[in-house]
Parts: sequence; structure tokens; C-alpha cells
Amino acid sequence: MSVTKKPFGQMADGTPVDLYTLTNANGLQAKITTYGGAVVSLVVPDRGGKLADVVLGLETLEEYVEKSPYFGCIAGRYANRIAKGKFTLNGVEYTLAQNDGPNHLHGGNRGFDKVVWDAQEKSGDGAGLGLTYLSRDGEEGYPGNLSVKVTYTLTDDDALRIDYLANTDADTIVNLTNHTYFNLADGGAGDILGHELMIDADRFTPTDSTSIPTGELRSVAGTPMDFRQLTAIGARIDEDYEQLRFCGGYDHNWVLNSAGGSLALAAMVREPVTGRVMEVHTTEPGIQFYSGNFLDGSITGKGGKVYRKHHGLCLETQHFPDSPNKPNFPSTVLKPGEVYQTTTVYRFTV
Ligand code: GLA
Repeated sequence: MSVTKKPFGQMADGTPVDLYTLTNANGLQAKITTYGGAVVSLVVPDRGGKLADVVLGLETLEEYVEKSPYFGCIAGRYANRIAKGKFTLNGVEYTLAQNDGPNHLHGGNRGFDKVVWDAQEKSGDGAGLGLTYLSRDGEEGYPGNLSVKVTYTLTDDDALRIDYLANTDADTIVNLTNHTYFNLADGGAGDILGHELMIDADRFTPTDSTSIPTGELRSVAGTPMDFRQLTAIGARIDEDYEQLRFCGGYDHNWVLNSAGGSLALAAMVREPVTGRVMEVHTTEPGIQFYSGNFLDGSITGKGGKVYRKHHGLCLETQHFPDSPNKPNFPSTVLKPGEVYQTTTVYRFTV
């Protein structure tokens, strides 16, 4: 196991940005940059033992700053959407950036994906990297100084484990996730429609046409949202189902049967050609499955791969979108003295 570090460039204001390489006992390797805490590459074996990169990403810091559609990043302070960029807490209305049509997305104009994190190498099981960031009171419109720590560990049982910790000095809202785009076949050269997916959820949160949940928890039974059995992602993606039409594929939150709280299997992806399997375990109550609908060939990534529609998939473990405006959803409020603590594990097998 090892952790090494090299410079990845610097921000316009001169802040240096690093790229860390985590290698586990079996030779799996993750590269993570302090810019947005983004996973830049993740190398895992196929059924023949052949190692290859299974995530989408860019070659340079400049490209991440200019055009990354949240590749690999830590999304926050509130990952996913808040309707109209407004929420009320303790009787006070807060206004956030409307950076996704009428809505707030992934923390705003300068969310946790666009800041430079402080890094500390971590010893223990596998290869670890701790990233910390202090989000000041009022930053992007959110109340409270929020101190965040995200620890990435490439474990010796071949998992990328992500532990999230946060605390605040005033009541606030928090929802943190990782936004890696996976393609277990070829790292994004082709599409993910042949990948098979299982999501352990009987219900999902249908949305309006701007991807804000209506508040309903709808049964997946009899719909193209039913992934309770491993099913090819492309099998039903073009069905004439309003929820799929709204966003050109899958971009929804599933209500996990485990309901969150303790680490449980939430989803599994199997790529039949390479035999690669990824299990997603989480303590979170929800997962956003996004089928890379907005990739349109305008971004060329690592190794000259052109990322077209559906060339990557995200499984973003989270609390449900727009929870601050949905009293029936699990709460995303964090108060002083409380600890926000969640864990997500992406485990690779064949
Ligand atoms: C999330 C959202 C998608 C899209 C991507 C980034 O997954 O749910 O709608 O915005 O981020 O392109």
C-alpha cells in the first residue's frame, strides 16, 4: 500500500493543487485531486486480471476548472437540487444560487466541487487520504460555519471507501455525496447501456419536469424504474415513461429499502463483457442513479475518449433531493453539537 503526491497545477489565485495516488495491496489504484476532492482515475481488474481505469475524468486541472460536469467530485454543501434555490430554517428564509434552470444544484456556483481541499495522508487499513474544508457561514448562501472532513480509503479488500464527517456552529443543512461517473467496460469510450444494475429500492421519488421531487414515494413495480433484479440499463431507458422523458434517461433518487443508518448494500453494477462488478454500500437513505444523459460528446477526457450521451453512470448516495422543502423526507438539518457522519463503499469484484 502506498500514498504518493505530485503537483496537479495551481488555481488562478496561485493556490497549489495536488494529485494523490493511492495504491492498495492488490495493485488497485485511485488518483484523487485536492481540487473538489475529485476521483480522477480508478484502476481495477477485469475477470482476466487486466487492470483498467473505470471512471471518467480529465487530464488537467485547467480542464476540471473549465468544464467538468462534476466528474468524480465531492458535491456539497447540499448535493443535488433545492427547488428555486430557497429553503426556510427556524423561520428564516435562505436564498441560494439558481444554477440549474430555476433550481439550486450541488451547492451552487462554487460548491465543494470547486474548492481546494487540505489533504493529509492517512495510515491504517489500505491507502488513505483525508480531505478537509471549512465552509464559512454565508458561503453560497448557507448558514453556519461547516467544518467538513472526507476520507478516501482504498482498502485491501478492493473497495474505495468514503467517510464523510461534518459539524457546524449554527443550524444548517448538509447533504454530501461523491459524483464519480463509472464505466466498468472501457472507462467512458463507449456507453453504459449494457451494464446491468440492481438497486435495492421498492420506491423512488418522482420529479417534476425540472427534476424536483413531487414529494411522492412511488412504487417502482411495473415501471422502468424497477431495478430490484439486475437489469441492463439500456433495456427500458427509451420507454415512453414521463419520468424518463423529463431528463432523457435516468436521473432520479431511489428510496433505499435499508432506510439508511447502518452500512447496507444499496446497488450493484455488473458489466458482462469484462466481468467487472461494483457493489455500492451506504449508510444513506437514498441514491441518485444518473445515466450520463447530459454528456453530449463536447468533452474529451483522459486518453482522448469522447464522452457521449450515456458513456458514464453515477450512483450518488445521498439524502433525497429538496429535503429542506419536503417535511416528509428524512431531515438534512445539522445542529451545533451534532455530528454528520455517513459512509459509502464502492467495492470491486469480478
Ligand atoms: C447530477 C444531477 C444531474 C446532472 C449531473 C451533472 O447527477 O442529478 O441532473 O446535473 O449531476 O451533470
